[in-house]
Amino acid sequence: MENLEKIVSYCKRKGFIFQSSDIYGGFGGFYDYGPLGVELKNNIKKSWWNYMVYQKPNIVGLDSSIIMNPKIWEASGHTKTFSDPLAECKECHKRFRTDHLIKEQNCEEKDLKCPNCKGSFMPSRQFNLMLKTFIGPVEDDASVAYLRPETAQAIFVNYRNILDTQRVKPPFGIAQIGKGFRNEITPGNFTFRTREFEQMELEFFVKPGEDEKFFEYWVNERMRWYTDVLGIKKENLRIAYQGKEDLAHYAKACGDIEYNFPIGWSEIEGIANRSDFDLSQHEKYSGADLKYFDPETKESYLPFVIEPSCGVDRVALALLCEAYEEIEGGRTTTTESAKEIETVLRINKNLSPVKIAILPLVKNKEIITGKAKEIYNLLSPHFYCEYDEAGTIGRRYRRQDEIGTPYCITIDFETIEKDNSVTIRDRDTMEQERVEINNLINYFYKQFNNL
Ligand code: GAP
Repeated sequence: MENLEKIVSYCKRKGFIFQSSDIYGGFGGFYDYGPLGVELKNNIKKSWWNYMVYQKPNIVGLDSSIIMNPKIWEASGHTKTFSDPLAECKECHKRFRTDHLIKEQNCEEKDLKCPNCKGSFMPSRQFNLMLKTFIGPVEDDASVAYLRPETAQAIFVNYRNILDTQRVKPPFGIAQIGKGFRNEITPGNFTFRTREFEQMELEFFVKPGEDEKFFEYWVNERMRWYTDVLGIKKENLRIAYQGKEDLAHYAKACGDIEYNFPIGWSEIEGIANRSDFDLSQHEKYSGADLKYFDPETKESYLPFVIEPSCGVDRVALALLCEAYEEIEGGRTTTTESAKEIETVLRINKNLSPVKIAILPLVKNKEIITGKAKEIYNLLSPHFYCEYDEAGTIGRRYRRQDEIGTPYCITIDFETIEKDNSVTIRDRDTMEQERVEINNLINYFYKQFNNL
């Protein structure tokens, strides 16, 4: 696995990820996904939705507003407790996360030294991470609202609506994908810790007493998505269970799925047993009855909630780190590549941004380029394709390998004059096979999972 700087520069060079507001010098903790990045992210989200909603009969979806009634954040405990310890240097006034510094410097809080100027720190204080805004034309305390720091609370406050309108009963889940915002003290490590990010969250409502069984179920099920669906190697994933002292204020148990990033093992997803904390808080603050009445047993109860909560940006980063490979001298022995480092993004075919590259073997023969464009028009409604006629064929193959395109199609004179077939080259094996144009759509549907 390469170091993070290589991944950062690759992402910029190939149009996966740019720093936000680039021409203005950037904006700390914010990133933009370029043409390839947006495809990768969409493929991850489609895969998650397919696995979590379409393949599970008892899970339904939601797309809620980002800004909600601020009382929600009082009820959930976020206004009081959603904070990180902040250390401010007495000399240079730079700010850091106290807990991160203690870990890095392996000492007590009182002995910490500023990494910037070696100065000492003012007493640590709690810093609330929620981003504030004002709603309406008057900016006063009464108009304060928050950009959601997690998508989860919108699910809890819609739980009654969904229970009343859908044919669901515990155990059942509500899934949501959407942006979250946190005013992180020290955003960093590229897109690992940002101030605006995207989450894929499931809140799974179960009968109290069945929560531990479902907690275990979801830990295994979520691991399976990473290994069997995304194709991440088992040895690069692990589950770290939190000790009682590390648990968030709402959690009864929590296991983090960690990926072996170039920065070390770090969380990509948290799976929490949130007990009935959220529903009971929202009952208390809203006055709504959020109990489930079971018509069969005549029991009424507040469900417990198991929550697998995953960050899209961290999954994208993990996939890029996993797939990025540099080959010195290249994979072929052509003189053109002998001196070069060749990059191949060996990403799961279903997640690759571009699925098929269409490459006419010669560019100045209308008969060949015309046929190639015909094939592009045939395939592009089904798969994301790229048409490229610039440069030698070896260079064009390498360009596609570098961005992870699993298949390249070449069109040559034989296609036109002989057999109405094209050559398909596989990114990983570099093997080539001839396939009839009439069979192309079927051929590729067999290669890709319809996410
Ligand atoms: N609803 C529970 C919750 O939000 P979390 O552990 O704070 O739990 C869940 O966040 C996931 O969201 C994390 O595992 C991570 O993938 C992603 N995430 C959280 N904060 C992030 C940040 N500042 N930047 C990027 N991703 C973040």
